Amino acid sequence: MSPNKGILHSYKNYLPVTSATPMLTLHEGDTPLIHLPTLSEEWGVNLYVKTEGVNPTGSFKDRGMVMAVAKAKEAGSKAIICASTGNTSAAAAAYGSRAGLRTIVVIPAGKVALGKLAQASMYGAEVFEIEGNFDQALDMVRDVSEKEDVTLVNSVNPYRVEGQKTSAFEICDALGTAPDVLCIPVGNAGNITSYGKGFKEYDVARGTGQPQLFGFEAEGAAAIVQNQVVREPETLATAIRIGNPASWWAALETVKQVGGGFDAVKDEEIVAAYRGLAKAEGVFAEPASCASLAGLKKKIANGEIKKGSTVACVLTGNGLKDPAAALDTNDIEPIRIPNETETFLSHLHRKEGV
Ligand code: F0G
Repeated sequence: MSPNKGILHSYKNYLPVTSATPMLTLHEGDTPLIHLPTLSEEWGVNLYVKTEGVNPTGSFKDRGMVMAVAKAKEAGSKAIICASTGNTSAAAAAYGSRAGLRTIVVIPAGKVALGKLAQASMYGAEVFEIEGNFDQALDMVRDVSEKEDVTLVNSVNPYRVEGQKTSAFEICDALGTAPDVLCIPVGNAGNITSYGKGFKEYDVARGTGQPQLFGFEAEGAAAIVQNQVVREPETLATAIRIGNPASWWAALETVKQVGGGFDAVKDEEIVAAYRGLAKAEGVFAEPASCASLAGLKKKIANGEIKKGSTVACVLTGNGLKDPAAALDTNDIEPIRIPNETETFLSHLHRKEGV
């Protein structure tokens, strides 16, 4: 098997890569598409998850960021800027440092998972936090990028969408065709737009077909579903705590073309999917990622997704990003024991089968 040289190399024919583009990489992409036997059986579908948390900084953002940062570098930019609920800032900081660019990130104070904050600091970004939400942070960085010589690397940067579409190619390569259905969490709505573009381009190039696209917002931040801006978005899935998605119209148009739709899932449903996935299948994804699975369950129950379908759910970020969410939603505590084998054994024997 040839080693993964990163998406700019693997997919240069599908990306805006020119002879002047620096071949930046942290070996992103080529993430596993994992079959879930237990949930497939339980839900009556043929279910796969695309584990984007395996990327270098632990989320799908690496695919878009490598492209956006390479193009910024190619254009002679010296600095990049983004607003973020956490993952974008981690990816921008990593690729920014790799490319030797100044990286500036703006985040909502108190609403970014610990792992993501640690990443942005470690990679050397200049981190600003505001007493506001992601939408307000995005307004600020958009404004600054117009006034100053700094490249905006949020998903409104078209190169981000380009890079992120490569995950759709990989799903088609792994399955031989597109799945019947793709389920994906929605925050700023850039990623669902990327997948739509990717499946479409691969279908034109290789006849792989296009899946129905189902996007899931958190109920407390469901602007697209409610068809109105949510001024004060709230959800435990902080990555998608967004009330005014920047790619709202592009995402609606994308879904209109292939069928599917948008729906909202409750935090309780997200948590149930989050815990169930880890326990039943050994896959640990961050809460926002599990909106895709929670949504799938809902759509199978109401008949909108047919039993027997081949479904890919995108797990956008690694569970380790947000250890607090894992501990807060789990009542299993370590059992404290003295340093003695006999007591240890007596505890083990209390549980059947050990
Ligand atoms: N899942 C995770 C783990 C995310 O971090 C995000 C977005 C999404 C899903 C939604 O993707 O915005 O393209 O619809 N995170 C952004 C950030 C907003 O700043 O890290 P989207």
